[in-house]
Amino acid sequence: MVPLSLAKSLASSPRSAEQCSADEATALFRADVLYGLSQPQKAVPPKYFYDEAGSRLFDLICRLPDYYPTRCELEILKARAAEIGALAGPGASLVEFGSGSSIKVRLLLDAMAAPAAYVPIDISGPHMRAAVTRLAEAYPGVAMVPVEADFTQSVRLPPLEDGRRVGFFPGSTIGNFTPEAATAFLAHVGDVLGAGSALVVGFDLAKDRAVLEAAYDDRQGITAAFNLNLLARINREVGADFEPSAFRHRAFLNGAESRIEMHLESVRQQEVSIGRHHFAFARGETIHTENSYKFSADAFLAMVRHAGWRQHAVWTDPKGWFAVAALERDGEGR
Ligand code: TRP
Repeated sequence: MVPLSLAKSLASSPRSAEQCSADEATALFRADVLYGLSQPQKAVPPKYFYDEAGSRLFDLICRLPDYYPTRCELEILKARAAEIGALAGPGASLVEFGSGSSIKVRLLLDAMAAPAAYVPIDISGPHMRAAVTRLAEAYPGVAMVPVEADFTQSVRLPPLEDGRRVGFFPGSTIGNFTPEAATAFLAHVGDVLGAGSALVVGFDLAKDRAVLEAAYDDRQGITAAFNLNLLARINREVGADFEPSAFRHRAFLNGAESRIEMHLESVRQQEVSIGRHHFAFARGETIHTENSYKFSADAFLAMVRHAGWRQHAVWTDPKGWFAVAALERDGEGR
């Protein structure tokens, strides 16, 4: 398999690792930060948002009135659960990429006939394991097989039963890759799940600037806290001396790229050090921390086809703000 460097969709060092020790993870984090801060447009990959505090803040974001994607997607999944259950068939295994708190997956497990296994894959191990403990109580018949891993790198699945493999990739996380990296990721997911598998993937639709910008810069300042938490994490884990109060959260629509960009903007001229490395910030200079692409259904489906998936269905919420695609891969199922 071609080695993936999907994390490069937002500045990442050329090194990569699948599951690794805490020391190795910290070394990779440090390398990614040093690399990202050395770029002309400073950047840090968004996967580093999700330490324990970040994972908790993200759960709060998902409940914000301004953050519509979670609610719209839940609405779609509720309305289409039976169809997804039928697509999965009996005894299927559900593999979720970036499972977070494993809330949405309940709708699918409820609708599936005797699901064999749930395989959450998440970079935030403790948060994932706590979620899986809660889920295991509600679904005693489903084998819980958590995988602590960075899904932007290549992943391997544990051995699974014979039923269909169904990938689940909600939350418009696909939109956090560049379109090229998203296509490569969808192809990789196809390789991982194998012939005859299915994939349920949520993506956000292009819409009014005001609605989009409010979703990523909420009135309560939770998204700002989430973005700024990255600096606290970098200080703690790689020994930087960022002063978080000297940065502010910025989120805006880049219309030409059809994406929301999130940045941390330096409010003054300053220097930040990590060991012997020093990084100068001009006033107003930013660290780019995330992209969130907004698609048309056609553009998304073109990407999906390039990645070797066939469209089974595309569903939207009544407002037409968010979409969920159900996809299939040719070939004999297992
Ligand atoms: N996949 C989510 C999105 O693009 C991630 C997300 C939502 C996010 N809100 C955020 C990431 C705020 C960082 C900050 O919508």
